[in-house]
Amino acid sequence: MLWIMRFSGFFSAAMVMIVLSPSLQSFHPAEAIRSSHGGDSDSNSDSDSYLRLPTSAAGKFTFRRAPVFRNAGDCRASRLGKSSVCDPSLVHVAITLDLEYLRGSIAAVHSVLQRSKCPESVFFHFLVSETSLESVVRSTFPELKFKVYYFDPERVRNLISSSVRQALEQPLNYARNYLADLLEACVNRVIYLDSDLVVVDDISKLWSTALGKKTIGAPEYCHANFTKYFTEHFWSRPAFSGVFSGRNPCYFNTGVMVIDLARWRRLGYTRRIERWMEIQKTSASRIYELGSLPPFLLVFAGQVAPIEHRWNQHGLGGDNVRGSCRDLHAGPVSLLHWSGSGKPWLRLDSKQPCPLDSLWAPFDLYGH
Ligand SMILES: *[C@@H]1O[C@H](CO)[C@@H](O)[C@H](O)[C@H]1NC(C)=O
Repeated sequence: MLWIMRFSGFFSAAMVMIVLSPSLQSFHPAEAIRSSHGGDSDSNSDSDSYLRLPTSAAGKFTFRRAPVFRNAGDCRASRLGKSSVCDPSLVHVAITLDLEYLRGSIAAVHSVLQRSKCPESVFFHFLVSETSLESVVRSTFPELKFKVYYFDPERVRNLISSSVRQALEQPLNYARNYLADLLEACVNRVIYLDSDLVVVDDISKLWSTALGKKTIGAPEYCHANFTKYFTEHFWSRPAFSGVFSGRNPCYFNTGVMVIDLARWRRLGYTRRIERWMEIQKTSASRIYELGSLPPFLLVFAGQVAPIEHRWNQHGLGGDNVRGSCRDLHAGPVSLLHWSGSGKPWLRLDSKQPCPLDSLWAPFDLYGH
């Protein structure tokens, strides 16, 4: 516990340093989307194999450099040059990066690369609210193809209402709503991944999932009690609950989604999600309790292309009861997801891991 307090103290200190850092002061809000190509060897001449966050965090917050992962011989050759994001042979993956989950995001990227047959054909799109994290990625994965997108928290500040779990109110949780706007227009499909998971199978299998006429694909859980995701106020108003008429809505987890961005853009789903967030804010009584999930359920539940459950073995974080551990759901496993309140890196560090946390540990690059 003491460790956690010290660590969060460090995070606040790091935040303050970043806020005060001159490089960010010269960052113009007009550059709403800032990016950089992977593969460019312009700025990082640092030969140290550890990377450091700015200033006082140096030496405390380090990641080992990941090995370089190469394509197998029969991977499709890139047609448009090394780092073009528009290359049609690429698999696109979007992940958020923030200080609190950085260790998880880095492990997730590591897992995707390690288990891919064609790791050099995976292009990462990182959504950040702290632009300094770009150098962390570049130092840890020197040859990674990636782009960093600045997500302005102001974009959702007035749309977020307080939820049952404070962690769910982080603006970056809502960045997934804006992928279609943020990512390059030539990127027509993306896999969105949460930061508390590892992929233990070739991600190109998930990438090639057929979505049919659906905009998003995700594993669906039709046995879960869908009622509980919305309030009585919601269910008692046909103006609200009527949104599900003619649909057979099932719960799905928004931590793993395959998204048809072209279709999303065409049908204006960002605005549809925002509208529900506005209703939650302005309605006489709240219509749901959780954070970014319910608006997704409102817009998409019952209209999701089903993906095999192996691609989201979720809930491994357990619930709020301290020390509670979850087991895997029956069936094969391609992705392990520590959704819930516990995180494997915290439990491993506190020497009180759950049995399945040992499956996360091999992907961890934190420390010397
Ligand atoms: C589903 O959840 C609602 C609200 O929490 C509850 O009232 C209802 O009894 C539950 N239904 C079942 C079948 O468990």
